[in-house]
Amino acid sequence: MTADVSKTAAQAERDRVIIFDTTMRDGEQSPGASMSLEEKLELAKILEDMRVDVIEAGFPIASNGDFEAVRQISEVVTESVVCGLARAGAPDIDRCAEAIKRAKRGRIHTFISTSPVHMKWKLQMEPEQVLEMVTRSVGHARNLCGDVEWSAEDATRTERDFLLRCVEAAIKAGATTINLPDTVGYSYPSEYAEMFRDVIENVPGADKVVFSTHCHNDLGLAVANSIAGVQGGARQIECAVNGIGERAGNAALEEIVMALKVRGDKLPFHTAVETQHITRASRYVSAITGFPVQFNKAIVGKNAFAHESGIHQDGMLKNAETYEIMKPEDVGQVESNLVMGKHSGRHAFREKLKDLGYELGQNALNEAFQRFKDLADKKKHVFDDDIIALVDDALASS
Ligand code: KIV
Ligand code: ZN
Repeated sequence: MTADVSKTAAQAERDRVIIFDTTMRDGEQSPGASMSLEEKLELAKILEDMRVDVIEAGFPIASNGDFEAVRQISEVVTESVVCGLARAGAPDIDRCAEAIKRAKRGRIHTFISTSPVHMKWKLQMEPEQVLEMVTRSVGHARNLCGDVEWSAEDATRTERDFLLRCVEAAIKAGATTINLPDTVGYSYPSEYAEMFRDVIENVPGADKVVFSTHCHNDLGLAVANSIAGVQGGARQIECAVNGIGERAGNAALEEIVMALKVRGDKLPFHTAVETQHITRASRYVSAITGFPVQFNKAIVGKNAFAHESGIHQDGMLKNAETYEIMKPEDVGQVESNLVMGKHSGRHAFREKLKDLGYELGQNALNEAFQRFKDLADKKKHVFDDDIIALVDDALASS
């Protein structure tokens, strides 16, 4: 009995996925998405309430504003790890260490590009020089902080043997988390999973560190790739609220968390995120960045729990599981929404009338329903006031 319980706990520990939020770092890199210090402090509080494990609060050397945000967030956040980003040079790493030094649990995240195209054109360095920088930068960061993440920027376009050598060097120099980003959103899920399997199987010391995904959405595959990375052995996912980030964005936090939660029957992984805070976080990020959330956005879009067709509304009124795979309240939405429009059926119309306080006889109901259909053909949105007016009309003329 005891053995079974401890096996379950060990398994649960193995299957736990760390959620690393980068809304305030990579997310803020979306053109036009900059956030003020006060907004970042408020967002950090929301993320902490949501039980996000790691908050990447900024890139301290990028500006005094970023430094100050990371510094102040480090002072107020007590539960989540607070992380700052740094390139591989000592000035970046020192500035980051300074920004997180008051954090209860701080992390330095340092990175360098490892792909041929980045090394040749961006860094203008030879691979051996990059390898040397990996050892030097991670070692330097590790002297300043016990929690060091190293990222191989553009890992998915990196020559595999070189990637293995870099990861090995980073682990030897003291990295505790190894991130293999799909920086340009280029990978397929099967390739991304295979890369993690290969690295984890073939790099000495891989079992001592946590592997992380970081996926961009250039081909719309960021969430699928992140989950594939976890299937390949990663146990941290980097993501952003509403999927904001460079170009087409990062993997969306809310989609990842709910995909792992809803499909717990298929995959054993779980996160610590308290999902009822998701809608609040999404609305706050949309308000402060000015980036609207598309209506049909999974999980947090205005239409994510809205039903218009008569067939769907009828199903929903009988049992919500007919057309909903999660409850709106699980993500902090109040309730499902039966939208009255030209596709709505008689069943939903009768329920809507009940909500509005009308109990009509069969003839009046038929008359009102016909008027509603005529109106819905002409009008995109039929509001409660429209329905009240047409029912009153129907009653007056019957
Ligand atoms: O996309 C990327 O590779 C990054 C790194 C800095 C982690 O954002
Ligand atoms: Zn990125």
